Amino acid sequence: MAQKDIGNRIPIHTLNTTEQVKDFYNEWGIKDKYNQDMLEWNYTGPIEAAHIFNNYAHDKDMLIFDAGCGSGLVGKALKEVGYSNLQGADLSQTLLESIPKNLYKKLSQSDLNEPLDISDNSFDAVMCVGTFTYGHLKAEVLDEFVRITKNEGLICFTVNEGIYEEYGFDTKIAALETQNNWCKLALYKFDYLASKDVHAWLGLYQVIKVSDS
Ligand SMILES: C[S@@+](CC[C@H](N)C(=O)[O-])C[C@H]1O[C@@H](n2cnc3c(N)ncnc32)[C@H](O)[C@@H]1O
Repeated sequence: MAQKDIGNRIPIHTLNTTEQVKDFYNEWGIKDKYNQDMLEWNYTGPIEAAHIFNNYAHDKDMLIFDAGCGSGLVGKALKEVGYSNLQGADLSQTLLESIPKNLYKKLSQSDLNEPLDISDNSFDAVMCVGTFTYGHLKAEVLDEFVRITKNEGLICFTVNEGIYEEYGFDTKIAALETQNNWCKLALYKFDYLASKDVHAWLGLYQVIKVSDS
């Protein structure tokens, strides 16, 4: 699939290393530019994800981990539909510092491609929106999301259409289903950056953990 240039100074599909990705977002976050661009480009990911999540989640107090929370757009969208028990992590310190105070209960700066410093079964849900794209998080991170999510918890994520097969998301998502690690609640393609003609897959899965006893 052809890579679409969304008009950044550096095209996103040329980012190869974690350092390049970090620098890219640290620069993009200066003077609220990331948020302004997302507004201007009609970025629908956070609102779409929060909406579908809210259709299936039943407890507004659930503890939600926002993986790759950036400037907090997913946190804002979740708050709009009633969820405020949020924690987030991101690579970019600049974006983390731009998040409105008290939107998240806890924030950390970390590389989510590394094993997560989070105990098994810690969260009721994981959200990961906009962060499965070129040079960002790998499909294997989904295994970590399953590990940190409680039995019957929810995992809601988007995957840029350009990497869905190329980075092995199709096979990883299917394997987690075949191995009975999660079951599908929704999987569909949507207009993600509407003004740039970029689409993404949106997945919502329920975690299955069979007790040993
Ligand atoms: C397109 S932004 C999406 C941010 C936010 N979820 C949103 O929807 O606005 C992608 C985010 O992924 C973060 N990111 C990229 N690679 C990462 C990594 N290895 N570990 C943690 N965060 C990463 C970036 O810093 C950036 O905030």
